[in-house]
Amino acid sequence: TYVVTENCIKCKFMDCVEVCPVDCFYVGENFLVIHPDECIDCGVCEPECPAEAIVPDSDDKATPWVEINRDFSTQWPNITRKGEPPADAEEWKDKPDKKALLSP
Ligand code: SF4
Ligand code: F3S
Repeated sequence: TYVVTENCIKCKFMDCVEVCPVDCFYVGENFLVIHPDECIDCGVCEPECPAEAIVPDSDDKATPWVEINRDFSTQWPNITRKGEPPADAEEWKDKPDKKALLSP
């Protein structure tokens, strides 16, 4: 499965949502997650994210995010269409250490 990681926080560009063939993205206030049981591992979302937030779960960067994707994907609503990204999304794009800013 693929996993949304830290870089998405406060960026939330949502280009990923538009390309997913199985609509397995779920949306929170400032972050998205992938439902691990619905993702078919096609990989098309990975290059679409301007923040490079999406990685396969085999990637070391995914490790702290696997459970977060699983947990929130059962709590947050499904999203199938790209909305308006935050006005300051570009400013947050390359900022490190955003994990504490994730709104549950
Ligand atoms: Fe959707 Fe494919 Fe990305 Fe999985 S890898 S979230 S199925 S676009
Ligand atoms: Fe987040 Fe990238 Fe999608 S910033 S909303 S994972 S396009």
